[in-house]
Order: sequence, then C-alpha cells, then structure tokens
Amino acid sequence: MNVFVLAGAGVSAESGLGTFRDKDGLWSRFDPMKLATPEAFAHDPDQVHAFYNMRRQNLLSAEPNAAHRALARLETGLVERGGSLFLCTQNIDDLHERAGSKQVIHMHGELLKARCTDCGETMTWREDLSVEVPCPSCHRSGGLRPHVVWFGEMPLEMDAIYDALLAADLFVAIGTSGSVYPAAGFVSEARGHGIRTCEINLEPSDNARQFDEGQYGPASEVVPFWVEQILSQKSLADQAGITAPRSPHPK
Ligand code: APR
Repeated sequence: MNVFVLAGAGVSAESGLGTFRDKDGLWSRFDPMKLATPEAFAHDPDQVHAFYNMRRQNLLSAEPNAAHRALARLETGLVERGGSLFLCTQNIDDLHERAGSKQVIHMHGELLKARCTDCGETMTWREDLSVEVPCPSCHRSGGLRPHVVWFGEMPLEMDAIYDALLAADLFVAIGTSGSVYPAAGFVSEARGHGIRTCEINLEPSDNARQFDEGQYGPASEVVPFWVEQILSQKSLADQAGITAPRSPHPK
C-alpha cells in the first residue's frame, strides 16, 4: 500500500516547538507579515534573522517525540510489505530525520539550512544568521536568509508531491489546521481521485468534513496507535478499503 502523509506543526508540538494558530501559537505572539514574507526581510532583515535565530536555537534543543518515531517505523514497515510512505512535511524542523525517517519532503523548507540570495547556494546552517555573515560560497554579506518558504513564495517539490499524491492509496493529514494552501487542498485532490482520506489531529481541523475519517488526540499517542493498526493489518489493502494494491510511487 502507498501511504501519503502530510505533517504539520501539531506533530512537533509535543517536542516543545509549539504550533502557529493554536491559542498560544507563534502567530498569536508574532506578526507573520512582519517576519515571514520576502517584503519583511527586505524591510528589516535584522528582525527576521532574530526571529528565525530564536526558532533555530529552540529546535537545536528539541527532541523527536513518539509521533516522529512511529512515522519512521511506518516508512520501514510499509516497504517491508511491498508498499511505500511518502512523508511530506510543512514543518521546517529536522525531527523526522532525527527520529529515523529516510525520505522526508520539506515543502516549506528547512530551518537548519540557509540560502544565499546573491549566488543561490543552499547550505546546512546551525548557527545564528545575520546580515554581517558572509556567504561561504560567494563571500558576499547580507544575502544569506533562512531556507524556508515565506508567505507569498512557492512551496518546494510540488511536482513530486502531486505525483506521489495521485499514486497514493491512502492520504493522511497529521497535526495540521488545514488553513494554508496548497497543502490544505491536498485532501480534496485526493478525494477527487478516489483516494481514501484520514485526519489525525488534536481536534477536528478547519476541513475535517472533507476526510473519510478522523482520529483525534495528541499525536504522540494517536500516531503510534494508528501506525500499529496499519502495519498489523493482515491485508494492508483492507485498511485502505481497496481491492488490489496499486503500483508503488514512481521513483
Ligand atoms: N497533536 C496533534 N495535533 C495537534 C497537537 C498535538 N499535540 N497540538 C496541536 N495540534 C493541531 C492543532 O489542533 C491544529 O489543528 O495541530 C494543528 C496546527 O495547526 P497550525 O498551527 O495552523 O500549523 P500548520 O497547519 O502546520 O500550519 C501550516 O502555516 O504558518 C504557516 O508555514 C507555516 O507550515 C506552516 C503552515
């Protein structure tokens, strides 16, 4: 069985990274239009760097939780059973990889990478960033920015994401409010192609009604349970309510 998982901030909430739109979420304390747009970076790069430096430091002291580890198990378990997992995350943290996931698509970029707006080079970056820091590649200063997708910018890897979505037997959204597009539109795309859909979240999300089913509760509890359910199915096909497995994701 080919499973497509869309992950959101709710998956990393219990690792202490918080979410964006919950009561004490990041956007209730910070203005995204002043911190997470190309215009904001052009207008006040120091303020934007301070915001992402804070988040990068938080990430470096965070640890994966049981939900991340369960998704890593799902990846291996499906492959062992002739299937596959396409893990597409909106999160810019590296907790999936630290939990053991091998293939992770970061559609909104990665906080532990920087990109030079002068030479276009992208590099691993674990330190604070500032306008003084020269690019290791072109040696010019002022052009380095966090390798994250800001509001108004195109998400990454969209062709690979849509190919995998349409090849899936089961689409599952975990820990996302369903309020940011294009990710929020994946469920209707999946439904439009007869793909079974499931939502796993603390509570029903904005587009809960679009899902065939929902499982609710903290990700660190519900995701391990759901993964055991999936992998323990004698016939994985039953789980996806399909008759015969489709061919695996086109590599
Ligand atoms: N377990 C499961 N779900 C949780 C948990 C938890 N412990 N804690 C919160 N949630 C759920 C909330 O109920 C909410 O529906 O996670 C969701 C988080 O929603 P958002 O804060 O909107 O985060 P997300 O959907 O990932 O945001 C999408 O918006 O700000 C941009 O680029 C940013 O990638 C982000 C995108």
